Amino acid sequence: MSILKIKNLHKRFQNNVVLDGIDLEVNKGDIIGIVGPSGTGKSTLLRSINLLEKPEEGTISLDDITVELPLRGGNRKNITELRKRTGMVFQKFYLFEHKTALENVMEGLVTVRKKTKKEAEEIALKELESVGLLEWKNHYPKHMSGGQQQRVAIARTLAMKPDIIFLDEPTSALDPELVTEVLGTIKKIADEGYTMLLVSHEMDFIRKISNRVLFLDGGKIIEDGTPAEVFEHPKTERAREFFKKMNTLREPDYYI
Ligand SMILES: Nc1ncnc2c1ncn2[C@@H]1O[C@H](COP(=O)(O)OP(=O)(O)O)[C@@H](O)[C@H]1O
Ligand SMILES: [Mg+2]
Repeated sequence: MSILKIKNLHKRFQNNVVLDGIDLEVNKGDIIGIVGPSGTGKSTLLRSINLLEKPEEGTISLDDITVELPLRGGNRKNITELRKRTGMVFQKFYLFEHKTALENVMEGLVTVRKKTKKEAEEIALKELESVGLLEWKNHYPKHMSGGQQQRVAIARTLAMKPDIIFLDEPTSALDPELVTEVLGTIKKIADEGYTMLLVSHEMDFIRKISNRVLFLDGGKIIEDGTPAEVFEHPKTERAREFFKKMNTLREPDYYI
């Protein structure tokens, strides 16, 4: 069953056309890996669906909400609703430094979801537990590792019960030894049945958890298939080249 439908999405920055008519249909429970060279619009795609960017043209439907572009005042209610139903996890965690892990997860529940403090705390504790950070609830971000901070950010997103979660290179700001714990957390939420769009350069991880992979280049989706189809039998030279390069980059560190 399709939950997200994007039609003919266009986004440019001045005369740089970044999304050149993207069509995409996402089914409930899909884990979609989005790959492609740097600067091809992967972040812009996620940010446009979430309306953090303002696309010039196209239609975005999430469940029963439809937003027609360009944005107009009359759309306001649907825009707010669409934002509420999407969760975003960024490369940088954007936690409140002066709030504890627990308070960070509670924040949106109180201010956006209008939960009481008690309800918010209950939900937040549950989500912190699910990312394995219950004992860290009273710690401030600066006393936590990058991996732990990202897991708090994930708990904060889950607490809002979004219909769909966008993750934009969630591990690329982390020291290598912290990547695994965050990937583990993402795998866990994927297994819980969330619908996810995940941009990452962790090709092995994408291959393992996605049921579908998109390759973005030149403002278009140029590959779209199962991980096996896209990674092992890419149709385009562009994707083949990119994967070859990624493999090279993944060769073990040099011994000195
Ligand atoms: N706010 C912005 N203003 C101007 N250009 C932007 C902005 N954000 C992204 N771009 C440009 O859009 C293109 C796609 O960027 P981005 O979506 O970040 O790519 P990716 O995430 O695939 O690396 C790049 O050429 C980038 O320079
Ligand atoms: Mg990006």
